Amino acid sequence: MKKHVVFFEAEGGTDKGPDGHRRDTMPMVEALRARGWSAEAVFYRDAERDRLCDRVAAEADAYVSRINPGTIPGGEAAYFDMLRRLCAAGVVGMPHPDAMTGYGAKDALVKLVGTGLVPADTAAYYTVDEFQRRFPALLAGGRRVLKQNRGSTGEGIWLVSVDDPRPRAPGAPVPLDALVKCVEAVDNHVEHHALGEFMAFCEQYIVGENGMLVDMRFMPRIKEGEIRILLVGRTPIFVVHKKPADAADAFSATLFSGATYTYDDPAKWRPLVDMFLGALPEVMDRLGGHEIPLIWTADFMLDTAADGSDAYVLGEINCSCVGFTTHLEHGIQEKIAAEIIRRVERAGEPSPA
Ligand SMILES: Nc1ncnc2c1ncn2[C@@H]1O[C@H](COP(=O)(O)OP(=O)(O)OP(=O)(O)O)[C@@H](O)[C@H]1O
Ligand SMILES: [Mg+2]
Repeated sequence: MKKHVVFFEAEGGTDKGPDGHRRDTMPMVEALRARGWSAEAVFYRDAERDRLCDRVAAEADAYVSRINPGTIPGGEAAYFDMLRRLCAAGVVGMPHPDAMTGYGAKDALVKLVGTGLVPADTAAYYTVDEFQRRFPALLAGGRRVLKQNRGSTGEGIWLVSVDDPRPRAPGAPVPLDALVKCVEAVDNHVEHHALGEFMAFCEQYIVGENGMLVDMRFMPRIKEGEIRILLVGRTPIFVVHKKPADAADAFSATLFSGATYTYDDPAKWRPLVDMFLGALPEVMDRLGGHEIPLIWTADFMLDTAADGSDAYVLGEINCSCVGFTTHLEHGIQEKIAAEIIRRVERAGEPSPA
């Protein structure tokens, strides 16, 4: 064992502190050093990829990826390729690139249909043809949320409801000339379109690299807030309760759209947290069998079960660049350092015959 860990970051961006690093990166580096390990934060640059890859493979036991792959100027493919080479060379990937897409892509939701974490009628469209065939029929059943895979902070996440006075036959798909009301989560702004016109606009989300649209029923209790669990591996660290702005059409839990955040102890959300921890083995299995991400979040919305009790619906998993600057003073970096060391040591053990 080399007892060395490399943190990959992207240069620039609004999430960096005065030293150019994410504000929660150096605390993790320091926490590893305090445990007798060495660690460094390195900027990933496409042009220096091969040299960086060789050096990290030679010097480090593990990497921690702290880059949103969607923001890499030349695209994510080259970065993922480097991470894949590092993992193949025996460096412990936190996370492995396939885990980043397995857990982090929006269609993770569809892979979890049947686990009780998402509604049974959640769909993903990878072609315009599938979208045209299925969306008008699902919309006939009630309000839907369409989610693009690329981008974040609510861009290309649309709440769609039929806003058309004409009667419709029960079970028939919504006709393409019906009027729909569309609200985008980025800022809760409202647009009115004919369904066909709006669907033509949405084709941009399906075409191109990693294009897809996830289609999920609207959960009206989002008004009561989105509940985010932040985990280090399998350990819940804190819960953020994000309440959308108090406006008629507001359904977005993003900060920019005016939502307010409250930080809670996971103990306050015991039934939800226990339910999710119990589901983890199956989640892992369905999302590709990769190790649970090092630092990640799972976002839930409230639902009401048949007996009137609260139920929880998963809305999104994030695992590529989750930050925790709000909790540095609680020592979360110490837990992360311990988890990194545990994973490296475990990888170094002889595998059972
Ligand atoms: N099925 C749903 N029902 C009600 N509201 C939803 C639903 N899905 C998403 N939302 C709302 O839309 C917001 C944005 O959706 P989501 O988190 O999936 O997208 P995102 O753009 O990737 O956001 P992030 O920046 O968190 O990664 C959520 O925070 C939530 O408020
Ligand atoms: Mg979200």
